[in-house]
Amino acid sequence: MNEDSNKIVTARAPGKLMIMGEHAVVYGYPCIVSAIDKYIEVKLTKSEVPEDTIQTPGVSDNRFITVTLETFRKKFGKNDFFTIGTKSDITGFGLGSSSAATVALVKALLSFYEISLDNKKIFDMCFEIVKSVQGEGSGFDIAAAIYGGTLYFVTGGKKIEELPVNSLPVIVGFSGIKADTVKQVSMVKEKMQKYGKSIMAIFENISRLTEEAKQRITEKDWVRVGKLFNYNQDCLESLGVSTEKLNGMVIAARIAGAYGAKLSGAGGGDCMIALVSDENREAVKEAVKSAGGEIINI
Ligand code: PMV
Repeated sequence: MNEDSNKIVTARAPGKLMIMGEHAVVYGYPCIVSAIDKYIEVKLTKSEVPEDTIQTPGVSDNRFITVTLETFRKKFGKNDFFTIGTKSDITGFGLGSSSAATVALVKALLSFYEISLDNKKIFDMCFEIVKSVQGEGSGFDIAAAIYGGTLYFVTGGKKIEELPVNSLPVIVGFSGIKADTVKQVSMVKEKMQKYGKSIMAIFENISRLTEEAKQRITEKDWVRVGKLFNYNQDCLESLGVSTEKLNGMVIAARIAGAYGAKLSGAGGGDCMIALVSDENREAVKEAVKSAGGEIINI
């Protein structure tokens, strides 16, 4: 038995909230994403037997774990087997548990072997893993799990810029329906094939709104950022990815005095976000609850 057999390594990575630019970011445009203060933690020990033992209740698809292990072994020429467990506060709401689990496992493996890798290289590796498991995706969620904070992000990590804000005054409402991101992305792809020009026009609009939001977030001009949320929501409705439930929660938040509100992520379910002032935060939460939403405290 060598000393590695007793080594317990833990690493964690945060979940994410898409702020602006969803769907357009799959086609080469920018988005803004924030990491949240909820995490998935991975615990890893070397296995006594020649196979991996994976007990990861917070991860909906174990391929994120198995493909990460395979990729890591190949890339670094390692042959050890592991017992892996997870603890999650973010599963089931579309807050990025799969990408956070991938990032946390890569970080745990790097720490186990005492390998240091810069964030961009960790990003490239995790992006390759997540793409091979789920097909298409921009990688925004991986960037949030690695870099934290609020990021201006372009497809595949072409640009990853940290915005100088500590936190965004948002509230999050879960629609009660788990979204199928892959399905929503394919639906938009089909529309793109049928109505290319109109869909591109929507993406260009989203891109302009996102560029302006980047500036206004930096200035903490929440009144204007709220308006940009609303315009972004109009674009997402035109794309056909919002739902009656999400629309109801968004409208309720606006009526209760939010600066603005929109769905967050692929649509079809999962969460909406509303930008609020301290004074109307509670009223907006109540309104979202009355529209059938569950408030997720972040
Ligand atoms: O459903 P979520 O929260 O994972 O967000 C998906 C966002 C998309 O832009 C639709 C896809 C992507 O990978 O950027």
